Amino acid sequence: MNSKDFPKVELHLHLEGAAPPTFIRGLAREKHIDISGIFAEDGSYAFRDFWHFLKVYDAATSVLQTPEDYHRLTLAVLEESAASGVIYSETFLSPDFCGGRDLGAWREYLAAIREAAAEAERKDGIVLRAIVTAVRHIGPEASRETAFCAAETMGDFLTGFGLAGDEKLHKPKDFAYAFDMAREAGLRLTAHAGEWGGPDSVRDALADLRVERIGHGVRAIEDLALVDELAEKGIVLEVCPGSNIALGLYPTWRKHPIAELDRRGVKVTISTDDPPFFHTTMTREHDRLADAFDWDEGQFRAIHRTAARAAFCDEATRDRILKRLEP
Ligand code: ADE
Ligand code: ZN
Repeated sequence: MNSKDFPKVELHLHLEGAAPPTFIRGLAREKHIDISGIFAEDGSYAFRDFWHFLKVYDAATSVLQTPEDYHRLTLAVLEESAASGVIYSETFLSPDFCGGRDLGAWREYLAAIREAAAEAERKDGIVLRAIVTAVRHIGPEASRETAFCAAETMGDFLTGFGLAGDEKLHKPKDFAYAFDMAREAGLRLTAHAGEWGGPDSVRDALADLRVERIGHGVRAIEDLALVDELAEKGIVLEVCPGSNIALGLYPTWRKHPIAELDRRGVKVTISTDDPPFFHTTMTREHDRLADAFDWDEGQFRAIHRTAARAAFCDEATRDRILKRLEP
């Protein structure tokens, strides 16, 4: 099996988190910003743990200051994704980083990202859709402004709303107002949970935010009643195994719960989260999973069909993607 070659659908990718370190260093040089402290000697991003990762992420993002920067970033990221065989991708965007939650500025950033996505689609055939995320550690107050930006700009490109950031800060219900606003506008919903929070964080995201997908969600495995509930309700998990392992949530690929969740009937999908931070790509995720669990191309193709069915896109796009997933 050559993992690079078969088509893939990625549902969980942070646009800034997918920025190659060389790209961020180049922008920092152009703008005379010193962020040398966030890099290791070999040029990769350096961080100690998840909370330090969030700080390094914010520092890297600080050099992305204009819609043109995001245009260039989107092209660079989609080129990498397409090289791993990704044909459809959903990326998290934050009006917090793109114009400081000012609606007029946000429109300009979104237009630049969308234009780059159209360019990448013409060049490599990769299709992009966007999910606005509120950032937990920026807080519930800001999340209302974020949801307002998302609601005002939703459409066939911006299709979802989510929640990322430090899972230990605030409760999902603190963001319920923002999620209600997003749902009423017609956005599809997902939230990070069950990564640094336990099974209760997944239960809370389902009950208080009424999401249809969970970002990560893997710690549901610590509560088998919850696992059964996820399977019964058809909740889709955006699983990012390499991210979990790089951040020390699980010691090895074999110890990662994705295979057991799958065996128990939970709809799992495969994503990279913040690939250069975690030294991964979609190709590498598939290679490591194949090694750890003896998964073959048929298993992966089934997972990507699940992902396409759970994608936050219109039905014509979904049909097109499902067709391209056929062997
Ligand atoms: N922001 C970027 N990557 C993240 C992750 N893995 N978890 C939560 N917030 C994030
Ligand atoms: Zn994430």
